[in-house]
Amino acid sequence: MSKVDVILGLQWGDEGKGKVVDVLTPRYQAVARFQGGPNAGHTLEFNGEKYILRSIPSGIFQGGKTNIIGNGVVLDPILFREEATALERSGHNLKDRLQISKKAHLILPTHRMLDAAQEAAKGSARIGTTGKGIGPTYTDKVSRTGMRVGEILSDTFRETYERVKARHEATLRSLNYSYDIAALEKEWFEAVEFLKEFRLIDSEYEINRLLDRGQAVLAEGAQGTLLDIDFGSYPFVTSSNTVCAGACTGLGVAPRRIGEVFGIFKAYCTRVGSGPFPTELFDETGTRLRDIGHEYGAVTGRERRCGWLDLVALKYAVMIDGVTQLIMMKSDVMNDFDTIKVATAYEIDGHRTDRFPYDVEAPITPVYEEFRGWKCDLRKCTRYEDFPAEFKTYVEFIEQQTGVPVRIISVGPDRDETIVR
Ligand code: GDP
Ligand code: IMO
Ligand code: MG
Repeated sequence: MSKVDVILGLQWGDEGKGKVVDVLTPRYQAVARFQGGPNAGHTLEFNGEKYILRSIPSGIFQGGKTNIIGNGVVLDPILFREEATALERSGHNLKDRLQISKKAHLILPTHRMLDAAQEAAKGSARIGTTGKGIGPTYTDKVSRTGMRVGEILSDTFRETYERVKARHEATLRSLNYSYDIAALEKEWFEAVEFLKEFRLIDSEYEINRLLDRGQAVLAEGAQGTLLDIDFGSYPFVTSSNTVCAGACTGLGVAPRRIGEVFGIFKAYCTRVGSGPFPTELFDETGTRLRDIGHEYGAVTGRERRCGWLDLVALKYAVMIDGVTQLIMMKSDVMNDFDTIKVATAYEIDGHRTDRFPYDVEAPITPVYEEFRGWKCDLRKCTRYEDFPAEFKTYVEFIEQQTGVPVRIISVGPDRDETIVR
């Protein structure tokens, strides 16, 4: 019996999941997304080309693999069609390689409007969502009033749509939100027809069947552990379970069928949108991380906030996710830094703690450990042995603090700029 290996972000998203899923896919028969939706932007680079995936799994570029959009995902037919047609135009045939769960939930045009209206109503307390309707769609799912992908095949689809839309419109009116969705709605129904051309399946059966036949499956997370609805910095989080357990509910696999858990983190930290970020840098170092690391949203282009690596938060994520192997990204961004800092504890109201606090609004002063920079180009290294001593000290400190080995080190955006130990 094979197992499902899970790959997920340990920080606030954008750790580099897309790149690593693509690198690991040759080891697997299938890759499956288990939560989130087009709020994700997963970047892959190879052969001088760059691709950004939103809802389609990042295994799609490695030939002969099955790619599955699982039941835990929320899918916007319009954005899905855009993404799929762009891939098909660049020569990647999806129809025989991509399957979609009938139980995934549909993002309606009015979900996007509700996202915008609710953010506007929050004023300065807004979350800074991606505006893709993620929160309202998951809200409908949990309220048992949502629409699932399988419903597009039903005779009563239009009727149900009108009923859900009417309810959304009542809310939009109560929020005094003015909008016009006629064009968007037309596009949405055309995109629903496009969606019908794909294999809509009971993906839990497909995944368990693959495992029973001894085939390996990789579950691809979106966002990151610190954006998890239960364990993230609530309410500044997304609306799904981004943690490892989300792979069980988002794909229909039992906990005992989970194998390796690959936890991805950047050698520093970034966050996009509002919410606490204890090690955030507001100085020139923060600007350098943003500029050198090109820290701008893959899809929205929004500036990402940047700061030092936070081991309090990383250890918390490793615990919640049961990480068995760490994957460290973007160390090359700090090639020219004289010193590098890592937070190992927090001071809150004069007390020192190594726990991620319940009250995320509490004034936190990070306690830092300082490291000498390696001051050389890591992109020139092709084996772990080639890395300078200062860099190895940094890696080994993280391993010692988390108790988990760093098995893969990425030193550039390209598929080939990856060192496996
Ligand atoms: P994801 O959402 O976790 O897939 O990550 P994003 O694609 O949103 O953001 C990661 C960004 O970092 C992308 O632009 C990648 O091309 C880039 N990237 C990934 N790994 C590395 C690396 O090791 N070094 C550098 N310099 N860039 C990287
Ligand atoms: P990937 O998969 C980084 C953030 C948003 C906002 C909060 C809630 O590319 O790592 P939402 O639209 O989900 O309701 O927004 O979550 N967010 C992400 N930040 N990477 C992502 O995805 C994100 N998806 C959502 O910026 O703060
Ligand atoms: Mg991203």
